[in-house]
Amino acid sequence: MAQAQTLTTPARPRVGRTADPCVMVIFGVSGDLTRRKLIPALYNLASQQLLSREFAVVGVGRAPMTSDQARQKLSEDFKQYATGAVDPDLWEWFVRRLHYVSGDFDDPNTYTALKETLGKVEKDHSTHGNAFFYLATAPDYFGPIVEHLTAVGLMTEESGHWRRVVIEKPFGRDLDSARALNQQLLKVIGEQQIYRIDHYLGKETVQNILAFRFANGIFEPIWNRRYIDHIQISVGEVVGVESRGGYYDHAGALRDMVPNHIMQLISLTTMEPPISFDANAVRDEQAKILHAIQPYTSEDVLSKTVRGQYGEGTMNGQRVPAYRSEQGVPPDSRTETYVAMKLLIDNWRWAGVPFYLRTGKRLPSRNTHVVIEFRRAPFVLFRETQVEDLVPNQLVLHIQPEEGISLRFAAKTPGPAMKLGVVDMDFEYADYFGQNPSTGYERLLHDCMIGDATLFQRADMVEAGWSIVNPVLDVWKALPPRNFPNYPSGCWGPKESDELMERDGRRWRNFEK
Ligand code: BG6
Repeated sequence: MAQAQTLTTPARPRVGRTADPCVMVIFGVSGDLTRRKLIPALYNLASQQLLSREFAVVGVGRAPMTSDQARQKLSEDFKQYATGAVDPDLWEWFVRRLHYVSGDFDDPNTYTALKETLGKVEKDHSTHGNAFFYLATAPDYFGPIVEHLTAVGLMTEESGHWRRVVIEKPFGRDLDSARALNQQLLKVIGEQQIYRIDHYLGKETVQNILAFRFANGIFEPIWNRRYIDHIQISVGEVVGVESRGGYYDHAGALRDMVPNHIMQLISLTTMEPPISFDANAVRDEQAKILHAIQPYTSEDVLSKTVRGQYGEGTMNGQRVPAYRSEQGVPPDSRTETYVAMKLLIDNWRWAGVPFYLRTGKRLPSRNTHVVIEFRRAPFVLFRETQVEDLVPNQLVLHIQPEEGISLRFAAKTPGPAMKLGVVDMDFEYADYFGQNPSTGYERLLHDCMIGDATLFQRADMVEAGWSIVNPVLDVWKALPPRNFPNYPSGCWGPKESDELMERDGRRWRNFEK
């Protein structure tokens, strides 16, 4: 196997500017996201000196608790979720900046109490009147919370202070509800105040797609229909729905993964070079690509999409239950846990190049990657090798768990005969840059604190993502599946997914680990 030369450059601390002084208000502070991701990410930013010394966190939750109790609880959780070694003095500095306000999200009194606390926190920690509100709550609260914040004046930007709101997914459950939520928000605050988060954009390797394409001169000339046969995007998960059956059964794999995470991967892989790295220049190009995706007709939905639901099966030698037996899932659920789709992009660069996407739970390996398969050489000189045995060149962008890029090509095998073998040239992130323990939220939180919205979704992008999947939601709803469960846990999804590729003379590339 050809191996890229490995440099021994030691991992370096992140370079970047310290964020603005500010207070972060977390709605839903007792939830999983706060303890697993947000608090460890803030601590990591502090340890890299990227967090301002004039910083504070105010948690808002329903549970009646004092700030001291909240500090104690978050300190306990942090022991479990810290991503690396913890400096006790730094944690102590951090935890002293945590405050708590208890109340219901739909009770106006909660916001009066919050305003009072923010006034005090601003004085104690000199946060300069800057604040961002992170909505880690059930989606039904997104609109009402922003309206309440506006009503008490907390979203007003004056005297050079900024006020922003970070909205988690799901942003709507279809095109209409996403539009309605955008309208509700935009009635009371400006688009530049809204940071719609997609945690996939926090992944280094997702950001690296842009660096790979636009910081290197050799790829752009061949990044088009003339040289590329097709592109595959796979987001495989080993886990089932875990304890999220209640949420997931109303969402399904399509809503949960496609209009957001998978559309990010598509747009970054296929967009035109932006004129600058200004937030709107990048997002304009992403939006253009999403608008160029050919809309599905009802017939397309039948012939170009596949849905599946996992049954019981064996994974790593262990029996695992069917989706319908998971906690919070009705025994006759028709919700899909797997989806595969074929898409086309109607523009000059991509006309006629198929894009195959798939995502599913309970697959054999957790693996997210983009495979760019190039056209075969026009004719073959090698008598010993059948044309169909020649594997086409594939460039693979490995997003997770391995982070890197590999290129597959043919090489002569040693010996007197002219025979060909397949080799992979691999670049692994960790070999070059070391491993930086991170939750994946550091960059996104930091960007929000410095006002860089490049990696956040604009209203038009969210709506474009939903427009693509909306016809699929409609047809699937009208024609409920009759064969669920249709794939056992631990396999690569329903056979129809392989057939989707085989009909076009292609096949999925599976990565076992
Ligand atoms: C979330 C989905 O947005 O992304 C989950 O709701 C999914 O169902 C998760 O498991 C995958 O994220 P990651 O970072 O583990 O690939």
